[in-house]
Parts: sequence; C-alpha cells; structure tokens
Amino acid sequence: MCGIVGAVAERNITTILIEGLKRLEYRGYDSAGLAVYTQQGNLERRRRIGKVSELEAAVGAEPLAGNLGIAHTRWATHGAPTEHNAHPHFSGHELAVVHNGIIENHEELREKLKGLGYVFSSETDTEVIVHLLAHTLKSLPDLADALKAAVKQLHGAYGLAVISAKQPDRLLAARSGSPLVIGLGHGENFLASDQLALRQVTDRFMYLEEGDIAEIRREQVTIWDVAGTQVQRETVQYHEGAEAADKGEYRHFMLKEIHEQPTVVQRTLEGRLGKDHVMVQAFGPQAAELFAKVRNVQIVACGTSYHAGMVARYWLESLAGIPCQVEVASEFRYRKVVVQPDTLFVSISQSGETADTLAALRNAKELGFLGSLAICNVGISSLVRESDLTLLTQAGPEIGVASTKAFTTQLVSLMLLTLSLGQVRGTLAAGVEAELVEELRRLPTRLGEALAMDAIVEKTAELFADKHHTLFLGRGAQFPVAMEGALKLKEISYIHAEAYPAGELKHGPLALVDSDMPVVTVAPNNELLEKLKSNLQEVRARGGELIVFADEQAGMSNGEGTHVIAVPHIIDALAPILYTIPLQLLSYYVAVLKGTDVDQPRNLAKSVTVE
Ligand code: G6P
Repeated sequence: MCGIVGAVAERNITTILIEGLKRLEYRGYDSAGLAVYTQQGNLERRRRIGKVSELEAAVGAEPLAGNLGIAHTRWATHGAPTEHNAHPHFSGHELAVVHNGIIENHEELREKLKGLGYVFSSETDTEVIVHLLAHTLKSLPDLADALKAAVKQLHGAYGLAVISAKQPDRLLAARSGSPLVIGLGHGENFLASDQLALRQVTDRFMYLEEGDIAEIRREQVTIWDVAGTQVQRETVQYHEGAEAADKGEYRHFMLKEIHEQPTVVQRTLEGRLGKDHVMVQAFGPQAAELFAKVRNVQIVACGTSYHAGMVARYWLESLAGIPCQVEVASEFRYRKVVVQPDTLFVSISQSGETADTLAALRNAKELGFLGSLAICNVGISSLVRESDLTLLTQAGPEIGVASTKAFTTQLVSLMLLTLSLGQVRGTLAAGVEAELVEELRRLPTRLGEALAMDAIVEKTAELFADKHHTLFLGRGAQFPVAMEGALKLKEISYIHAEAYPAGELKHGPLALVDSDMPVVTVAPNNELLEKLKSNLQEVRARGGELIVFADEQAGMSNGEGTHVIAVPHIIDALAPILYTIPLQLLSYYVAVLKGTDVDQPRNLAKSVTVE
C-alpha cells in the first residue's frame, strides 16, 4: 500500500527520504517518487515504476539535494502504475503533493478544475488535490490556511503531505482516514505514514488524529484539529518493544502478536471505510468493474488462512447473497474443477508464497475464472504480483509460526470484500453496510476488551495441562472459529484437538466424550444459542467437562463440570473475529504450561514454499 515520507531539515534530506521509503517497502507498492526543494530554489522530482532501488538509482544518476522534500511509494488505485501516475503530483512548478487513500469525488473536482484551466497530467485521484490547493492559494496565500480550506472539499480518505516552492520553510500535512505521524528531531522534523519509516532519524513521535492539519517547520510544529482549533498532540517516546522484530515486554512473539490485534485491525481498516460504506477502490483500480460481474466466489487457501475463508463463506452468502465455495489449495490444485460462470477466484495467504496456494492461483488462470483477488499480508509476494486485484491485510510482520494477527486481519479484509461485493451488486439488505461499517470502526476497541480476558483464560488453561485430547464445537460462522481454535491448540501445545459443527456431535464424536475429553465451545448470543445449549447438555450427560466462551448476555453460568467464560457482547456478524481472541489465548497458555516451543513448534514452518 502507499507510503509517505517527508522532511524539513538543515541537512540534505534526499537520502532520508529514500531510506524512509525503503523501510515502507514491506507494505507493497508499484512505483516510487520524491520531490525536493533544491538548493537552486526549484521544486524538482524523480519518479520511477518498480522498486525504491530504481528511484535511488535515478537520484544517483541525476542528483537532487535540498532541505525540504516529500516522497511516496504508490500502490495503484486510480490509473495504472506508470511514471506519470506516480507521486509526487505537481501543480505548475510551485506545488507538490503526495497522498495515501482515495478521493471519492475526484471526477467531479477534476471537471471543475479543468473548467478553471488546470491541466491534468495523470489519471490519479491525487492530482485533483494539488490543483485544488493551487487554486485555493490564489485567495488564501498562506499554505496552512489554503490546505484547511481545500480539504473541506475532499470526500474520501487521505493522508497528505504538501510542499510549496513559495513557502519553502515548511511541510504541510493533513490526515483523514489514512494515518500520519510526525517525527521530532533537533532543528529538523519529519513526517511519515508509519513511524517505521523514521526510526533512522528519531525516536520521538507525534501522531496526527482524524481531521488534523499540521504545519511542520525545522524548529516548530503547529497542529489544528478538525474544528480548526490549534491543539497539542502528545509526544510519544518510541519503545523498542513496539518493533515487530523484537518481543519487547512479551515472553513470546505469539503473545505479542495476539496483543497487537487491535492496532493491526485498525490499520487494516484505515483508508478503506467511507462514512457509511466500504471504499471498493481499496481492492484496486478495476475492482468496481470486476465486482459488478461477480456471481460466485471460489476461495482457496491453506491452514489458518483456509479457516478465514470458511468464515467468509458464511458472510458472503448470508450478507451479500453471493454463492461461495472454499477449498484447501492442495486439493483444489489437483482436482478437476468445474467453474461456475462469473466466479471470482480469491486466494488468502499471510505470506503470499505458500506453494499450494500459488499453484492453485496459476491453475485458476487456465480455468476461466472471471478474475483473481489476493488477500495477503506481504505486498511484494508472488501471490500479489500474480493476482488481478489485491487487498493487503496490514498485520505487519508475523513471527510466531502459529498465525494470530494475520488471521483476524484476514477476517476483517474478507468482511470488507463481502460488503464491497454486496454494495456493487446491490445485494445487501438496506442499512446493513452502514451498520457494519460503524461496528467495524468500533472493532479495535472491542478486541481490546477481549484481550482483557487474558488472566481468566490463563487460569482456564490449567484444565488442559494433563489432557491429551480436546473437542472444539461451534455453529454457523463460529464453526470455522472452532476449527481455528483446535488448530492453534494442536500446533503449539501438541494436544490432539478436533473441531466439529455442534450439530454433528451425536453423529460420532460424542462416543469419545468422557471426563478426560474437555469440550471447548464458542457461544455467541445468536439464534443458534438454544440449539447449542442442547448440544452442551449432551456432553454433560456423558461426564464431559465443558469450557464455554459465551456472550455476556447469553444467560449462561458456571455449573458442575461447566466453566463459562464471559465474552463481551458484539454484533453477530463480527463475532467470529472477537471469539478468535480467547481461543488464541487459551492455546498460548496451555502451550506455556506444557513448556513447548511456542513460537517455533516442532515440525512446522511459517511459510510453506514447498508442496
Ligand atoms: C503454514 C503456517 C500456517 C499458515 C499456513 C498457510 O502452515 O504454519 O500458520 O496458516 O502455512 O500460510 P499462508 O502464508 O499461505 O497464510
């Protein structure tokens, strides 16, 4: 996805910009560029398609030095990944802008600005911003005043950085829906879309909030909030523990990654939600056109990613009314598949390099699918490169072999897909999208509440210390959550765990139930609750011990052999995401009690690049 770096300093900032872009490479992009106010008093830019190293070579061949500059890695949404669509975008020779996000009313603004005589040199939505600002500067000559006025006309999501040759002592920034952080130096200041980009130059950061506009000078940072009132934002000293490659205060990467979920889910949503709808363009420039033709979905994945796909099937069919099939990649790739007309092929993968998933995608291209979408965590992966559309999950590097934050960000991405397909196809029930967008915004907070169950789940883990087998039960979209819970437990604690749809219990697995076989159940408060309660009675009647993760409003309480752990109430559609958290914590604490190698369980690999 797009990345922004900016700097205002006494020293030459070109290498700082390039180093910053390199640090954002993991996010995925298809072109890169920078603009510098040079020592000769001009705004100059270099842009290249492909890697930041190409841009670096271009700057090496034609050097560019200055004390003020902005830089960008672009992941194409409006307009192909070409040099003329790469950022920064200019208005004349005076003004340069880089932008993350999507401007939804760009067509209307473009027509208006063309009418005013502005000439467009790209197909991007971003270019309207720079001309709009140039136009506003005619009546409001101060850059901050002009930016405050101009952004009021933008609909959609943006994180922006702006520089002007006429006011070359400052860098302007605006945030709405796409994150920006200011890096504070001594006699120099910086801007980026992710603090990782600035770790080379500072450890002190100020995070812009929604609607903020910032004027960043060498010695001073001024911030105005959405109402235009000057505000102070807290300065945060960076802690090593927050870095992905470091366990920090946590005993294991897995626990750290479990606790990162509110943050990474927030990141996955950023720039993708409009006021009451999902921004379909987040899936790529041709997404809306392609989605309009989709009549079926085929999902293919492995392991945890496959479980995310299974949840998505419930969502796609129940919310968007779109038939969906889900299959593990190693099966799909080797069988003769009959493809329904107008089927979108969706692959899900944390790494984007899983051999079977990749082979399935390559086969799919021969099979007459409508198009392919990759839901993936690694922007530079093979899966992303070879798919027509991509949605990156923004989980950041996941180190623990047992996938946690990758899974929940996949689920969030699949909910965005469900709503986008339903929106474009017009198959969502009235009000559903607006309600779920609202609930998605609250989701990071709700996940934080679920993480507060840590201590009680740790205590519950003791029930499993001497057990060798476990059953996991769920109904509806919670069945795949139970499958994922069982997978986590077997992966890291080596306890044999099986998941069943609760209704299947009496068709076989009930024969296994006795006092040595704990049964874990996820019980949100939905229309299947009463049926689930009956299933639990069947277990209790056979002496089985029950561990029930139940909605706090479900009216379930502890009893003999029944341990009920209250889970915060959440709208049913998002329950699979929330209920995943206590199950992750459960397997983690059981593994810790068993003394296994939590982050690198025996026999398993993080990325399975061989068959
Ligand atoms: C391996 C990992 C799992 C992962 C699976 C699929 O088995 O250990 O955690 O779910 O591969 O990986 P992918 O990168 O395609 O999501």
